[in-house]
Amino acid sequence: MTVCSLAYWTLVFQFPLDWRGVLMDTDQGQGDTSAKEQYMNKIAVLGLGNFGTALARNWSQHGKPVHGWTVEQEVYDTIVESGVNSKYFAGFDLPGLKVTMGLAESVRDAGVVALALPSHVVLSVVDDVIVHLSEGQVLLDLAKGLAPGGQLVSRAIHEKLDAAGKSNAVAVMTGPTIAPELAAGVLTTALVACEDEAIASRLAGELTTPTFTISHAGDPLGIELWGAFKNVIALACGMSDGLSLVGGLGGDNLKAAIFTAGFREGCNLLDRLGAGRETALSPAGVGDLFVTATSPHGRNRRTGELLGSGQNLEEALGSTVMVSEGVRATRMFAERLETPDEAPFVTTLKACLDGELQAEQCVRQLINKNR
Ligand SMILES: NC(=O)c1ccc[n+]([C@@H]2O[C@H](COP(=O)([O-])OP(=O)(O)OC[C@H]3O[C@@H](n4cnc5c(N)ncnc54)[C@H](O)[C@@H]3O)[C@@H](O)[C@H]2O)c1
Repeated sequence: MTVCSLAYWTLVFQFPLDWRGVLMDTDQGQGDTSAKEQYMNKIAVLGLGNFGTALARNWSQHGKPVHGWTVEQEVYDTIVESGVNSKYFAGFDLPGLKVTMGLAESVRDAGVVALALPSHVVLSVVDDVIVHLSEGQVLLDLAKGLAPGGQLVSRAIHEKLDAAGKSNAVAVMTGPTIAPELAAGVLTTALVACEDEAIASRLAGELTTPTFTISHAGDPLGIELWGAFKNVIALACGMSDGLSLVGGLGGDNLKAAIFTAGFREGCNLLDRLGAGRETALSPAGVGDLFVTATSPHGRNRRTGELLGSGQNLEEALGSTVMVSEGVRATRMFAERLETPDEAPFVTTLKACLDGELQAEQCVRQLINKNR
């Protein structure tokens, strides 16, 4: 048992849990429980971009106290002044959401600290958060991508915690959770996993709402790897959409062929990297892949669409304020290969991103090399 799980079970044995996982101190009676309820229930959401705002809206709408943190003055001002995040989410009000630009204030007394930040940013924020963490607070990594060097984000966070002498648990959550739909109340599912399954199970219960069903999974490595790899496939699927716009080879038949080739390669490659096969067939695997590759909101699909319609990578990335983690993930998975033949889908897509293949050549190779 790890130190963090020990701390968790110590709390559980001291205070019985009610059905929501709220700490109830029976000695003090019902009337005095508010401070402890607040402690366990409060969710800090770090990063109020698309996903952070959607999660914060869903949770706060359903009565969970959420304290969001942003570095962006514009985001802070518009939420305080008009109750709307005008930069990322103009169409949605955010009733009940507390917002701050002070990291310590957001994290203080939160049971869960959700990291709604892109994979290339999350570790620098973790560096700043660590000093504010108390024992028992769980870090929930939401980034779908890999850390520098192709390392898992959760592993890199663990290393930082270890170096700081902290033993907080790190959980990961992924699934088909496109932000505008989650915010709008579309019934959405996700998986949460942690090395300590009891913590994953508790989080799934605490973070589920009537429109957001979270289940716990026992394969944290697998769900994190799929969270990153599905962006690679979605990027390639988007190229089919782009090719169809310019009268090329693109269309749903081609997209399905690319989807199949990428999924097959993902099953083999991620299996070799240690992911459980069953995760490929879960909401975190094929579920997330489906929505990312087909939804008009999917930014990796959109980047692929721009490439397919004839833009180069620089132009495609320059036309959105949102990050496209599939580009980074493609390069990072390619770097982890011993030989290019090990993962022809990844190496072909990387060649296209590097300008060595035109979109049309790329999609032909993606499906021909993966028959
Ligand atoms: N958008 C979705 O539908 C969705 C769904 C599930 C998971 N995710 C994952 O969630 C993560 C965040 O995605 P997003 O869509 O919210 O991205 P986004 O681009 O909309 O928002 C990024 C957020 O990061 C913050 N940020 C950027 N640089 C920062 C820095 N140096 N310091 C502090 N904060 C900084 C921004 O202020 C913003 O709040 C990604 O890993 C993504 O894969 C997104």
